[in-house]
Amino acid sequence: MSQQHFWNEKFSREGYLYGKRPNAFIESCSNYFDRKKSFLCLGEGEGRNAIYFAKKGFDITALDASDIGLKKLEEFAKYESVHVKTKCIDLNKWNPSKKYGSIVASYLHMHKDDRKPLFEKIENSLERDGVFIGEFFSTKQLNYSSGGPKDIDLLYTVDDFLDNFSMCKKIKVEEILTNLDEGKGHQGKASVIQVVIKKL
Ligand SMILES: C[S@@+](CC[C@H](N)C(=O)[O-])C[C@H]1O[C@@H](n2cnc3c(N)ncnc32)[C@H](O)[C@@H]1O
Repeated sequence: MSQQHFWNEKFSREGYLYGKRPNAFIESCSNYFDRKKSFLCLGEGEGRNAIYFAKKGFDITALDASDIGLKKLEEFAKYESVHVKTKCIDLNKWNPSKKYGSIVASYLHMHKDDRKPLFEKIENSLERDGVFIGEFFSTKQLNYSSGGPKDIDLLYTVDDFLDNFSMCKKIKVEEILTNLDEGKGHQGKASVIQVVIKKL
């Protein structure tokens, strides 16, 4: 099943699967983001991060494989009277043509074989001093039922980040236990990896 098919089915249900508030870790990193620079949300789904930062005055582009997720993002943006540029695309086929000051991703479950090429594209798309900030389920999340895939190849290790991004400073790459409260989709104790990576 393609990512688009899988996520379209999930996002076809009523409501916002991960709620309408931004990911708490990404929100807590707001000081890293520069309003004068373009801001990209990867695997943004129904748009909770994109809308939050658009409301704060950022110039936001959101990419996702799910056209249904992005349609809900656009309805949410309209309701909040903000504009977010959207593009429905499989990130494995993404051919970035622009540079960004900020790139974020929350719970983008890329297959382990697809991470290196995606991370290279992210790194090359960051402006100097630009940041990549995200939160991802770790392989230890298999022990918890708070959300996320039950396939180890879709879960991350700190080495996934440490072994990539050679042109960047890894300000934070940390595996922690946290308590998620993100809609119906993410509830309870969870093992996550939080990253703050800055292009040199
Ligand atoms: C767990 S959801 C998280 C959505 C959103 N980031 C959030 O936290 O609310 C994973 C998202 O990643 C997107 N996704 C997964 N694999 C993708 C790929 N290869 N290309 C583009 N989007 C992808 C899905 O469509 C889905 O919207």
